[in-house]
Amino acid sequence: MSDGNWWKGAVIYQIYPRSFFDSNGDGIGDLCGITDKLEYISFLGVDAIWISPFFKSPMKDFGYDVSDYCDVDPIFGTIDDFKGLVQKAHSLGLKVIIDQVWSHTSDEHPWFIESASSTNNEKSDWYVWADPKPDGTPPNNWLPYFGGGSSWTWSSERKQYYFHQFLIEQPTLNLWNQEVRGAILNSASFWFGMGVDGFRVDATHTFLYDRDLKDNPPRPKGDLVSVDISSDNPQSYQMRLNSGQQPESIQLIEEIRSFVNRYDDRCLLGEVGGEDGMQLMADYSDVNTRFHFSYSFDLLASSLDKKSVESIIRAFEKVQDEDDWWCWSSGNHDVTRVGSRQQHKDLSKKDFALYAMALGLSLRGSFCMYQGEELGLEDVDVAYEDLQDPLGKMFYPKIKGRDGCRTPIPWVKDSLNAGFTTGENTWLPIPDSHRKKSVDQQENDKSSVLNHYRRFLAWRKNKSAMKVGDFTFIETNNHIIAFSRHDDEGCFECYFNSGNVSESVSLDSGRIIDEVSRKAVLSENSLKLDPYGYAFIEK
Ligand code: BGC
Repeated sequence: MSDGNWWKGAVIYQIYPRSFFDSNGDGIGDLCGITDKLEYISFLGVDAIWISPFFKSPMKDFGYDVSDYCDVDPIFGTIDDFKGLVQKAHSLGLKVIIDQVWSHTSDEHPWFIESASSTNNEKSDWYVWADPKPDGTPPNNWLPYFGGGSSWTWSSERKQYYFHQFLIEQPTLNLWNQEVRGAILNSASFWFGMGVDGFRVDATHTFLYDRDLKDNPPRPKGDLVSVDISSDNPQSYQMRLNSGQQPESIQLIEEIRSFVNRYDDRCLLGEVGGEDGMQLMADYSDVNTRFHFSYSFDLLASSLDKKSVESIIRAFEKVQDEDDWWCWSSGNHDVTRVGSRQQHKDLSKKDFALYAMALGLSLRGSFCMYQGEELGLEDVDVAYEDLQDPLGKMFYPKIKGRDGCRTPIPWVKDSLNAGFTTGENTWLPIPDSHRKKSVDQQENDKSSVLNHYRRFLAWRKNKSAMKVGDFTFIETNNHIIAFSRHDDEGCFECYFNSGNVSESVSLDSGRIIDEVSRKAVLSENSLKLDPYGYAFIEK
């Protein structure tokens, strides 16, 4: 049956393939490993999977540097392995979303090799090339997300600089060029042909740059606030208003969308960050003509305390219009795991993991949960000699990079490498603290984080009010975050105690739903929640 809106309110399980499950003993996860574990994911009760890049790549940025958009990297398997994965996922009722990295390629992509070879080849304008200033220095002040130097790297062949937003090995594609747009859409049709149901489109705020190459303005002092911004990385000192997010990106997104509309029931999930990311999300998404929904960075650095959650949601409410739909996420392969962002460090980690789950999955929007959240995994402090992420290697110890949230999933506590691989070594270490939280340990424990996730997702699955219903804040005068989710079919009041002592709210009516409430007592007209307790009240 056709359902063009399947993504709306969906829970999407993000798989970082290197670290999910290794089927061939080389210490790195792969596509067959994902296929082997699809029953586990389906049993969790999610609607879809999103797989981070598995395309051919020199792996400088672990797959976000693509050297062939239409092939699988041998580390991860083959095209046939992918076909098998999609077929099995679909037979289990899971949709499949894959990453598409269209703002840059690897420097080993044949397009870049050709483009770099001369100033007059067929692809000479497929990347962003610029002459040096008369003194030989780069054309402007743009700084990359990853790396201490300029966003411009010199090419002796062309006697010009090329632009890269991320690593030197990730040259930015010139998406002003219509041929380049055609080429990326060809790769999109290739994957639709394989049966994928949607794309998570990477780094869309970096799609287009100012063609006059104007300098980025300095960031006002005291404004180092957003998730990827820290004063330890020099790019934080400038606002990336000219190196990215040009207004014409909207036409580009509309062009991509009208292409996608030729296929049934597919969706585009835009990763939208950048300056004033919320406004940009609203601008880039439109259920009918732009991205179906946009991926928010806003909870990714939050400890999910009342102040930050409320201010984020209120800010969204201001910019959102009825054609916009958000995708929330409290963790991914780029940020410290949510399990390590607890505000009240002395409180139970399990209580916080479950509070984070229930809160995130109750917000209005779709939700991307990151592999391992269902086990309550915390970030790992990876030693310098074990670091893999170039960002960590560059800025250690001030910025330790993203390896801490990318360590392999522990499947079996007492097996070699926690059952992740039969090989001797793993690409990143698995700490003992993670072994204790292995899937096999949690499977049989009714009160485990894993089983709470299963119960919660099973309960949420058929509640349209929780998935796509309206959202209204309920005022409280303490640390309890409260709101209702409601539509024609039902109304649920949702309460979460973000504080470190028990607190109460008064209630006039309603039934507490025990299967999804925790550390909560409803008596007479009062609901009492212990720290990190939560309750759902059916009205
Ligand atoms: C991805 C990162 C990646 C970057 C460059 C991001 O948005 O999530 O992992 O390094 O894009 O492609």
